[in-house]
Amino acid sequence: GKALYIAPSILAADFSRLGDDLRQASTGGADMVHIDIMDGHFVPNLSMGPGVVQAIRPVTALPFDVHLMLSEPGRYLEPFVAAGADHLTIHVESRGDLPAIIAEIHRLGCSAGITLRPGTPAIALAPYLEMVEMVLVMTVEPGFGGQSFMAGQLPKITAIRRMMRDRGRDNMLLQVDGGVGSKTAQQVILAGANVLVAGSSVFNAPNGIQDAISGLRALV
Ligand code: DX5
Ligand code: ZN
Repeated sequence: GKALYIAPSILAADFSRLGDDLRQASTGGADMVHIDIMDGHFVPNLSMGPGVVQAIRPVTALPFDVHLMLSEPGRYLEPFVAAGADHLTIHVESRGDLPAIIAEIHRLGCSAGITLRPGTPAIALAPYLEMVEMVLVMTVEPGFGGQSFMAGQLPKITAIRRMMRDRGRDNMLLQVDGGVGSKTAQQVILAGANVLVAGSSVFNAPNGIQDAISGLRALV
């Protein structure tokens, strides 16, 4: 069958017992761990730094998918890779020489991703599609967990999947982040996504973390 990857976002975990929550997600069937890094400048919130990433690195063997919501991501690549990141996603709206930053991510031994705010059109990613392994479509305004899914972003997912196909890069990962849960996942998968980030819907699930992950997987 068609592969679907589930990436729980630990932003929604209980930070007082982050290791336990992450262990449950890991044994519960997660495929990677989505880690949201916010600088209080690119987005109006602060989350965690390399120290937290390093602290949770021994808890699971799953890949760490690090989403950099930073104005100057190029300044922080090395610390996050040293802390245990496997994949780094940068925003197309960030400052810096983005092709050089993507090349540096690869040089450091990680896969690279590019993402965009809801207000940024799909075409903004065109120059980077041949350089990265994953595209992330934000279906909330970045900065906070627990927001409502923006259905208006669905055509953008379809458009980006089409852009990948047109370039013969249909093997690329297309990740969706923001408000993804049992009520919205089906639509994003139909639109062409194959990696689901899920924060609140996994870590605040009424029947537990494992049940929520299996529920998402059962949708395909
Ligand atoms: C928002 C983050 C998301 C967030 C998703 O800036 O990029 O990863 O944690 O949380 P939910 O799934 O609760 O919308
Ligand atoms: Zn994220």
